[in-house]
Amino acid sequence: MALFSSAKTKKIQPARKLEGSVQMPGDKSISHRYAMLGAIAEGLTEIHFFASSADCQSTLDCLRKLGVKNERRENIVTIEGAGLSGLKPPDGILDAGNSGSTMRMLSGILAGQRFKSVIGGDASLSRRPMKRVIDPLTRMGARIQSAEGGLPPLEIEGGALKPIRYELPVPSAQVKSAILLAGLYAGGETEVIEPVPTRDHTEIALEQMGADIGRHGRTIAVRGGAKLEGKKLYVPGDISSAAFFIVAGLLVPESNLVIRNVGLNPTRTAILDVLAQMGGRVKVINVEMLNGELLGDLHVEPGTLRGGEIAAEMVPGLIDELPVLSVFGTQTEQGLTYHGAAELRVKESDRIAAVAANLRRMGAEVEEFPDGLRVAGRQKLRGAEIDSQGDHRIAMAFAVAGLAAEGTTLIRDSGCVDISFPEFFQTLDRAIG
Ligand code: S3P
Repeated sequence: MALFSSAKTKKIQPARKLEGSVQMPGDKSISHRYAMLGAIAEGLTEIHFFASSADCQSTLDCLRKLGVKNERRENIVTIEGAGLSGLKPPDGILDAGNSGSTMRMLSGILAGQRFKSVIGGDASLSRRPMKRVIDPLTRMGARIQSAEGGLPPLEIEGGALKPIRYELPVPSAQVKSAILLAGLYAGGETEVIEPVPTRDHTEIALEQMGADIGRHGRTIAVRGGAKLEGKKLYVPGDISSAAFFIVAGLLVPESNLVIRNVGLNPTRTAILDVLAQMGGRVKVINVEMLNGELLGDLHVEPGTLRGGEIAAEMVPGLIDELPVLSVFGTQTEQGLTYHGAAELRVKESDRIAAVAANLRRMGAEVEEFPDGLRVAGRQKLRGAEIDSQGDHRIAMAFAVAGLAAEGTTLIRDSGCVDISFPEFFQTLDRAIG
């Protein structure tokens, strides 16, 4: 079910400067986690700066269907915790919309419930792999049926779970989180071992809410049965949304842009490391810590951008930023290459194919690999008609490309930005002045 209308075309003109100070929506990953943990905590959870993203609304809607009262007033969401075992059997299918995070992480909680539930999503989500959560949750004792090939919808019949020790075959924060959430319902200690570190918002939030959680190297352990306490939480701005403004500020010639209150959790800041290595002038100022999460302001100015190769081990920490980094690469001295990003093909769209096709429409030279991309540097982009394929990060990445192009760019299906950043175009128009 589409919550927001998406059949809109947005016109982007080349920009001379971006200036002033902009605010990002609350972090999408953190908002999902606070909402889910608030739902199974005891007492009230009050979440400030909750993400405006349609995906996070899908999480709230699913929780409401599971009997969890929640209310949204502007950017404050209040959740009446039902406790670990207080969720109710849903009346009908749980709709995760476009949100892989909702489906995968909530599956972890549903695996611990003594009732059967079905969770589905839109056409894009219905093509995304779920075997990665089905396997470990089944090993813990849940009974899960899926469409052929491990695709949604998932029918999950949970109950008492047993703890497992699980090595993640693919680095994925969503899968890690699903297992840790299911671990709350297992008798004993559940361990997840990551091949490379991924975003650790679930671990931090669990700690903040009183779970018994330990970390040692690449292993995360959670003890079942802990009582979570509802609390007042603040969500930092989303660095994955900020990435579009950071790149725009670096590419548009006379820019001078400040992005306020951006989440700076070290598992999310690889984008800043890569841009710094490539000569991007991004200064981090006013850093503070809230609810275990770092945040601060970013000051962005254009300059000479070298480009180069992104090391494969950095890719999981940059996965959501690769579409806009690919656009960035076309404007650097050496261009940009990355491998090890096969996961990009199973996001909201096949993002390698979508980036390559749209860059070619803008006249750029691109080489596509099964697991990555190479874009040549110093390329003149031409305004073109962009097919966002209904993927929010493709629409926003190519809006940024349009700012640095010659002529007019049309972003088809631009309403899909609602998935993570409904205010994207207004914020951009304001920074352009
Ligand atoms: C997310 C993890 C990443 C990311 C997604 C959000 C999360 O997905 O691409 O946008 O909130 O945990 P994977 O866990 O599948 O890598």
